[in-house]
Amino acid sequence: MSQLHVINHPMIQHKLTIMRKKETGSKDFRQLLNEISLLMGYEVLRDLPLEDIQIETPICKMTGKEIAGRKLAIVPILRAGLGMVDGLHTLVPVAKVGHIGLYRNEETHKPVVYYCKLPEDIQKRLVILTDPMLATGGSACDAICMLKEKGCNNIRLMCLVGVPEGINKVQAEHPDVDIYVAAVDDHLNSDAYIVPGLGDAGDRIFGTK
Ligand code: PRP
Ligand code: URA
Repeated sequence: MSQLHVINHPMIQHKLTIMRKKETGSKDFRQLLNEISLLMGYEVLRDLPLEDIQIETPICKMTGKEIAGRKLAIVPILRAGLGMVDGLHTLVPVAKVGHIGLYRNEETHKPVVYYCKLPEDIQKRLVILTDPMLATGGSACDAICMLKEKGCNNIRLMCLVGVPEGINKVQAEHPDVDIYVAAVDDHLNSDAYIVPGLGDAGDRIFGTK
């Protein structure tokens, strides 16, 4: 069963509250999402395996630690997932970045794929799939299926705000994918928007409304 990790560090909660306010403009919204993504990244990557490495300090030889094993790929779901890339990239500058373009049909609320470009060796990497909003879960589930079709078997889903509907769908369809969120909100409204949520994340990041 996939695990749900709710990262409720006070700094993250404080920043998220500012993001939720309707009067917060695009510049601050983007900046806060960037900062939260970096902070969440610490938790998402908390269990990365380490291995010993022999080094020499200016004083003496010692055994240090370095990250072992799989390399990382960050895969944002366009558009809003892009807002979480820079924070993760600050933590792991060598991570490769793939892009999956999906938008929700406004009437059916079902995701429509329009773009997919992934690193060639994506199947060898630990994939952090990013999208601030986990609403019905349709977009995340479709993106995970696309990654699995490319051979990925180590995927983590990093969102900002989820609701039980979306979390349950991802856990049911992809029990191998752990989910990381900063908050679990109450429910979806009739337009499949998260309540209380923060509105349309893509529009708020890019100032398109
Ligand atoms: C939003 C959001 C997720 C999706 C979540 O994207 O960024 O990708 O909706 O909804 P779901 O869980 O019900 O699938 P949107 O379709 O608005 O596209 P955008 O990011 O380009 O604005
Ligand atoms: N997508 C968003 O951007 N916000 C929601 O509340 C739901 C889906």
